[in-house]
Amino acid sequence: MDTIDTIFENNKAWAKEVTRENPDFFTSLLNQQSPKILWIGCSDSRVPANQIMNLPAGDVFVHRNIANVVVHTDLNLLSVLQYAVDVLKVEHIIVCGHYGCGGVKASMSDVQHGLIDNWLRHIKDVQRFHAQELSNIHNTQERFDTLCELNVVEQVRNVLNTTIVTNALINGQKLDVHGFIYNIKDGLLKDLKLN
Ligand code: CO
Repeated sequence: MDTIDTIFENNKAWAKEVTRENPDFFTSLLNQQSPKILWIGCSDSRVPANQIMNLPAGDVFVHRNIANVVVHTDLNLLSVLQYAVDVLKVEHIIVCGHYGCGGVKASMSDVQHGLIDNWLRHIKDVQRFHAQELSNIHNTQERFDTLCELNVVEQVRNVLNTTIVTNALINGQKLDVHGFIYNIKDGLLKDLKLN
C-alpha cells in the first residue's frame, strides 16, 4: 500500500475508533472549537503537539514553524496569535522547543542551507543576546542543548512583547505564557518555568 492509501485507511480506522469511544465526539466539534491552549512549536515531524500532550482534536490551536521562532513581523504567526487570544480566548500559550532541533543546530554553523538561513538569522540573534553564557559552555552538545532552551526563552519574550498579548494582560484577560522543551530521546516535556 502506498503512503496516500495508508493515510485514508488510517483515517477511517481512527474516526471509527474515536466514535466508538465517544459517539458524540465529532458532532460536539461541529459548530465551534474552544481550545484553551495555543501551541507554538517546531515543524519537526517528531514533535506533534496533540500527540505528545495526549490531547484530542479540538483541544489545541497550533502554529508550527522551523525552530519555533516568534518573529514580530510574521503576519502568519501574528494572525494565529491574535485569533487565539482575542477570539478563542485561549488561557495558555505554550512555546515549545525541543532538544536536537535541526534549525537551532544549523544556526550554530556557517554552512549555507539556502533561503532557510535567513529565517535562522533569528536564532543567530538569540546566540548574540546570550553570547557570554554560551561561550562559557565548552562541550558542544551542552551548548547546543542550552541554545535550544535559550531559543524558547527568547521566543516566549517575543510572545509577551506583542501588542496582542500585552493588551490582553493589561485588560486582565486570563492568559499565561509558558516555555516548554521536549526531549525526543524519552518523549518527555519539561517546563522551563519562565513565568
Ligand atoms: Co526543531
